[in-house]
Amino acid sequence: GLGIAKVLSTTGDVTYDPGFANTAACESSVTYIDGDNGILRYRGYPIEQLARHSSFLEVAYLLIYGELPDAATLEAFLRRIQRHRLLHEDFKAFFTAFPHDGHPMAILQAGVAGLATYYEDTLDPHDLEKLDRALVLLLAKMPTMISYIAKRAAGLPLLYPDSQRGYTEDFIRMTFGMPYQAYDIDPALVRALDMLLILHADHEQNCSTSTVRLVGSSDANLYASVASGIGALAGPKHGGANEAVLRMLNDIVDRGISVQEYVDKVKNKEDGVRLMGFGHRVYKSYDPRAAIVKDSAHDVLTRLGKNDQKLDIAMELEEIALNDEYFVQRRLYPNVDFYTGLIYSAMGFPTKMFTPLFALGRLPGWIAQYREMIIDPQTRIGRPRQVYIGEVERDYVPLRARK
Ligand code: ACO
Repeated sequence: GLGIAKVLSTTGDVTYDPGFANTAACESSVTYIDGDNGILRYRGYPIEQLARHSSFLEVAYLLIYGELPDAATLEAFLRRIQRHRLLHEDFKAFFTAFPHDGHPMAILQAGVAGLATYYEDTLDPHDLEKLDRALVLLLAKMPTMISYIAKRAAGLPLLYPDSQRGYTEDFIRMTFGMPYQAYDIDPALVRALDMLLILHADHEQNCSTSTVRLVGSSDANLYASVASGIGALAGPKHGGANEAVLRMLNDIVDRGISVQEYVDKVKNKEDGVRLMGFGHRVYKSYDPRAAIVKDSAHDVLTRLGKNDQKLDIAMELEEIALNDEYFVQRRLYPNVDFYTGLIYSAMGFPTKMFTPLFALGRLPGWIAQYREMIIDPQTRIGRPRQVYIGEVERDYVPLRARK
């Protein structure tokens, strides 16, 4: 039970709540989480059912508009997205302005913010028809943009979208395929990636989503708000964790240390190391997404014939941690990103591309929450207060007189 007190006016009193652990900044009907019991639902539908039966773009529609679409509505939504997947040709030059090995999240953030300059007729968020266009453009163009960033980092030729292929399938083709060469993709892998995108699609008021809402509360356009969310997601305590998990597993392999030794290092807080992919602000039991991803990691690695030592290490880490007093007491369990990096890596994505995959998955959630915020009559510009602990008033001292 979360006790809820509504404060709707400025009373002069200030609540001090670092990290907003106990502060609801909005009402929302998008996503429900029960962290004690490991429950996650999008618009009321259990994540397990959506992961098994739905598709990423159907989930996007559900999150944004609140209901599952009927067949004709879904078809029209997919067609609209399909039509807008090309990026403006000038974007190729835009990408070349960055070092080829610059972090993809920085380039993606700049690219998404930059879309606003190409689609100025879609910027007014209070015109819902324009907002609809902006969200379709974003959903359509982000996979193309991410594949361009990946291709450029590898020094390989860019591919244009293929309108005959599905969204996730064509994203894989644009990322790994070559011009004038057939590219057949195992449908089971397309399905696995699509499912991972579903699992990431929303998670109520997490750091990046709260950022999107806060930025958007100033009526900043959708592109600017989502770009800010991408900046928040890049941090290793948030979306950057999927990359950090793989670096951690590689580190354990490279240094040849035992899993127990690594866990001891974490417990002793040596060099501030944390068990990456473990712990969550809201889940104080097993993250339901992590359970689904763990099964999928087994399937995908088996399918690709990868006998991945790192999967064994990850499972051993989980086993040791779940039975260790340090983790039990603090209620630290694997989160969604403990196993995702292993799947992305087996599929061939370079480590630096993991967090952009999270961003692609989270995009529908950012859009849905932005839209919900914009149409909510209770929304006011976000403007937290503070508890000032600095100096009291003092007089300016001229430079000559300072000691
Ligand atoms: N490894 C070791 N100890 C941990 C971990 C961890 N992964 N996470 C939390 N702790 C410990 C803290 O050291 C602290 O212990 P203390 O009381 O002895 O100081 C206690 O657990 C509480 O931790 P907080 O940092 O206060 O928890 P908070 O809710 O603020 O942080 C967070 C949550 C950021 C996710 C944290 O668990 C973490 O850093 N995890 C690793 C990074 C990660 O996997 N992030 C992905 C989050 S999910 C997502 O974005 C998809």
